[in-house]
Amino acid sequence: MRAHDTTLRTARLTLTPLDPAADAGQLHRAYGDGEVMRWWTRPVCADVADTERHLASCAGRSGARLWTVRTADGEALGMAGLLGEVEVPGLTWLLRKDAWGRGYATEAATAVVGHALGDLGLDRVEAWVEAANHRSLAVAARAGLSERARIAQHYAHRDGPHEAVVLGRPREEEPRTTLGVIAELPVRDVAATLALLGAALGARTGFAIGEPPEFAEVALTPWSAGPRFRLAAVGRRQRVSPVRLHLDVATAAGPLHRRAVAAGARVDGEPTRQPWGRTEFVITLPEGHELTVSAPA
Ligand SMILES: CC(C)(COP(=O)(O)OP(=O)(O)OC[C@H]1O[C@@H](n2cnc3c(N)ncnc32)[C@H](O)[C@@H]1OP(=O)(O)O)[C@@H](O)C(=O)NCCC(=O)NCCS
Repeated sequence: MRAHDTTLRTARLTLTPLDPAADAGQLHRAYGDGEVMRWWTRPVCADVADTERHLASCAGRSGARLWTVRTADGEALGMAGLLGEVEVPGLTWLLRKDAWGRGYATEAATAVVGHALGDLGLDRVEAWVEAANHRSLAVAARAGLSERARIAQHYAHRDGPHEAVVLGRPREEEPRTTLGVIAELPVRDVAATLALLGAALGARTGFAIGEPPEFAEVALTPWSAGPRFRLAAVGRRQRVSPVRLHLDVATAAGPLHRRAVAAGARVDGEPTRQPWGRTEFVITLPEGHELTVSAPA
């Protein structure tokens, strides 16, 4: 059954409301292809019935609007649309392999974005694309989306987590006044803390002021911007109120945990799977600050 009844037309394509029962047969050429499904949230679909079940579950989510992407003569090339049950309207697209490299995905995505921000009156659309999925990143960029953030994801059928780019396009451009939040931890020994975090987490010193350093930046990326926090020296007699930081990582928790233990950091217990879908362990600094290293479970 179709979840909506809007057909979209572009110069070369017709996007018809996706009907899982009627369209699964043709769309299985995409959903049954390991190369096409390499980046998908689930493994390749085993057969047409599996494709139909997957399409029905996607199309059945509240707010979902999916289209079957067709050539002018009605041949189904793939799917494009809006995901259901997401906080910010999210885009999705996929084409069977022999339809790649002809601009069809960009044409379909642009139509969906135009419809979402136009007729549907949505304020913004988003796409989460794995950082290594260059073809999909290019589609998002050509459909007018730009990078807004990065997140760590872990699909149940994959061995480990991966980094995803959150791309977005607002209906009207809006200024972004806050680009980051930087925490400052009071510590007794800035240099020793920098050394410990370097060994335990591979953190780098962004800057260090004073000799020995009184104030420094702990950079958790090799690049000149990105996740970081600061350390400020406090005197031996000053009271320190411990704080807790969550470090959102896109690698498996196990190897990081082993590295932290080997570095001599105070690590409490093994990585633990949390009910909120993360695997976490805690590094406690001498002042009692807790750094929760949090990987997607
Ligand atoms: C993501 C995906 C849909 C992109 O398909 P695509 O065909 O690469 O994307 P486009 O439609 O934008 O096509 C662009 C290519 O068509 C070429 N092209 C040929 N004729 C064109 C035309 N008339 N207009 C525009 N581009 C044209 C472009 O030069 C470009 O070529 P390039 O790949 O060599 O740079 C496809 O790779 C796919 O299905 N991947 C698997 C599923 C997936 O990852 N989905 C996204 C999950 S986030």
